[in-house]
Amino acid sequence: MTNKQKYLLAIESTAHTFGVAVLDFDKKILANITDSWVSESGGMIPIEVRKHHKIVSEKLYKQALEKANITEDKIEAVALSNAPGLAPCLLEGMEFAKKLATKLNVQIVGVNHCIAHLEIGETTGAKDPVLLYASGANTQVIAYEAQKYRIFGETLDLGIGNFIDTIARYFGLGFPGGPKIEKLAQECKNKKELIELAYSVKGMDVSFSGIQTQIKNLYDKKTPIEDLAYSLQETVFAMLTEVAERALAHTGKKELLLGGGVACNARLQEMCQIMCNERGVKFFCPPKPLLVDNAAMIGYLGLKMFKARLGESNLDKIDIKPRERTDEVQVNWK
Ligand SMILES: Nc1ncnc2c1ncn2[C@@H]1O[C@H](COP(=O)(O)OP(=O)(O)OP(=O)(O)O)[C@@H](O)[C@H]1O
Ligand SMILES: [Mg+2]
Repeated sequence: MTNKQKYLLAIESTAHTFGVAVLDFDKKILANITDSWVSESGGMIPIEVRKHHKIVSEKLYKQALEKANITEDKIEAVALSNAPGLAPCLLEGMEFAKKLATKLNVQIVGVNHCIAHLEIGETTGAKDPVLLYASGANTQVIAYEAQKYRIFGETLDLGIGNFIDTIARYFGLGFPGGPKIEKLAQECKNKKELIELAYSVKGMDVSFSGIQTQIKNLYDKKTPIEDLAYSLQETVFAMLTEVAERALAHTGKKELLLGGGVACNARLQEMCQIMCNERGVKFFCPPKPLLVDNAAMIGYLGLKMFKARLGESNLDKIDIKPRERTDEVQVNWK
């Protein structure tokens, strides 16, 4: 059997998104299907999100097989994002993965979701980058060194995406808030008059809670939401660009790679691109379906781990790890 006739099935379910992907053993992505829990007004309720995942899982699985044009007996391994994330969501994914692996009699590879967000960046051509990981729950500046992804800087309070989502919810915009805030910022008519917010960078760390309070207060005082969205983006993305630049200077690396759902934001991409041009550093950013939560990235890393014999046949040994940190994981597959 060639690598093109062997397939891995991957499952993502750490938070709002349930995803199923199929990759061949050459790491080609044949299917990458997602269905995300969304809300018109409220925030994420983990138990509700789990129900969503339960309802869509079987349908997504069938669609993924169809898209990849394979039958399930061709699946040689299952990759599962079992860390970190919201426990109810992780449990739903694990239940689905274990049922499938038992039925097909194949191994499960447990994948750390954050590291999958980082490693999928390789598909852009980046070789040894500083990584700016800007997602819902996480905001970190990372570089790979000696078998680990080292964290050079991170948020001291909220993840940038959760911060933006909280503001959007306060404005009554629902979940996810990032794309809506981006649109509002583009519509701002007072771009010359930046509202001064609590720009907070300490070394290579950042924090957002001060700005969160300020924005809520300004909103209560009837400041237009377009102006708030604009100033918010300019301020927090400048903070991220600054810490990424510091990490580049500190490590001497010549590449910057963006990852995570907030990296979809065109203004964040633009600021990073400008900084990289000024420093003579190459800038990389994966396409949107690989930036937001997705199962293709879980499969991409899962395949490497499987080939490094990190798959598990004894499914009792696979468990969820809701709080696993990026720098705890021993990278035994590179
Ligand atoms: N265009 C955008 N601008 C800003 N934020 C965005 C945009 N698109 C999506 N986001 C934000 O991305 C976040 C979701 O990203 P992702 O799916 O990677 O995160 P997560 O899985 O919630 O967190 P983590 O990966 O840390 O566990 C949400 O907070 C959403 O608002
Ligand atoms: Mg994510």
